[in-house]
Amino acid sequence: KRPVGVALVGMGTVGTEVLRYMETNGDELAARIGAPLELRGIAVRDTSKDRGVDSSLLTDDPVSLTLREDVDVVVEVMGGIDIAKPLLIGALNAGKAVVTANKALLAEYTDELAEAADSTESDLYFEAAVAGAIPVLGPLRRSMAGDQVERVVGIVNGTTNFILSEMDSTGAAYSETLAEASRLGYAEADPTADVEGYDAAAKAAILASIAFHSRVTAKDVYREGISAITPAQFESARHMECTIKLLALCEKVRRSDGTEAVSARVYPALIPLGHPLASVDGAYNAVVVEAEAAGRLMFYGQGAGGAPTASAVLGDLVAAARNKVMGGRAPGESTYRALPVATIDDV
Ligand code: NDP
Ligand code: HSE
Repeated sequence: KRPVGVALVGMGTVGTEVLRYMETNGDELAARIGAPLELRGIAVRDTSKDRGVDSSLLTDDPVSLTLREDVDVVVEVMGGIDIAKPLLIGALNAGKAVVTANKALLAEYTDELAEAADSTESDLYFEAAVAGAIPVLGPLRRSMAGDQVERVVGIVNGTTNFILSEMDSTGAAYSETLAEASRLGYAEADPTADVEGYDAAAKAAILASIAFHSRVTAKDVYREGISAITPAQFESARHMECTIKLLALCEKVRRSDGTEAVSARVYPALIPLGHPLASVDGAYNAVVVEAEAAGRLMFYGQGAGGAPTASAVLGDLVAAARNKVMGGRAPGESTYRALPVATIDDV
């Protein structure tokens, strides 16, 4: 079978691990896909840095790389919006499948990306954008497509969960543990996105959009971060047999006029120590889904870091590549009905 050409855009925390597993497990992935993956190039900012790869693969021109005729799947693990948005829309318009971990982009522009994907019947996969290694979007999109989700609540930011867990167990101030979260590869390039709840809000928007067949953007999500949380607040929480977690809560609500809407909120909350979310520590994430027929489901695992995130990216890459080989396509994103979004005043 003809190899599946891959363009890797970004070789940082996540991209390095994607490449590592593509190389070490190449034969196994080829067997699952039905054809080998062939890396056409790697787009980075600094092509002079030694990255332990054949330097002829490196380019600082992601547009030319992704539009190459021999590229079938674009894997975007670069981040940011300004460059990534036209890059991915251009790739989809050119019929390339796109796999991305870019939640900031998806939380604002899923519609435009989905439109481009649908126009050329291309795959758009983004499991890694929410909760790192945890497969939650796939189950919501596919396995639960026949059920009615009522509520999704979870811990979806590894950096803040790492910080809050450290504050709880060691009494450290939040700023002391933030540097460690960055060193471990959990934090965003600008960690303000993590500690002020923007990253969790982006994930809440994506989760709510998928779970409720709606279109929620990050701007629709009520948001509070953790930068004002103090060790004294943890002490008070302990007196109440609680801990503090940054929660993302997405649910169907009924507005005062009786109509149904989706509400999404991110805020630090007191969690009773006996609750399953209280024992989610470090960079782990957990997502609880409540649905009409399924009842309560809980998804748990590593929510950040290079290798865990690479697992989700590679799963999408295998699916997209297999579709290229078999001539299939994942269900499009344009089938959303317009369930409106509730404001904080409605809930
Ligand atoms: P990094 O900052 O570690 O890596 C970004 C990579 O993109 C680098 O290789 C960088 O090049 C390259 N890059 C940046 N700008 C450009 C540009 N203009 N042109 C070409 N290449 C560019 O980020 P992460 O790996 O941590 O994250 C990547 C994406 O994955 C983000 O969207 C992030 O939100 C998401 N994500 C990250 C997770 C994590 O745990 N880290 C988990 C889930 C999702 P250079 O190396 O030269 O600087
Ligand atoms: N910065 C993010 C986090 C990475 O800490 O959860 C995973 O999306």
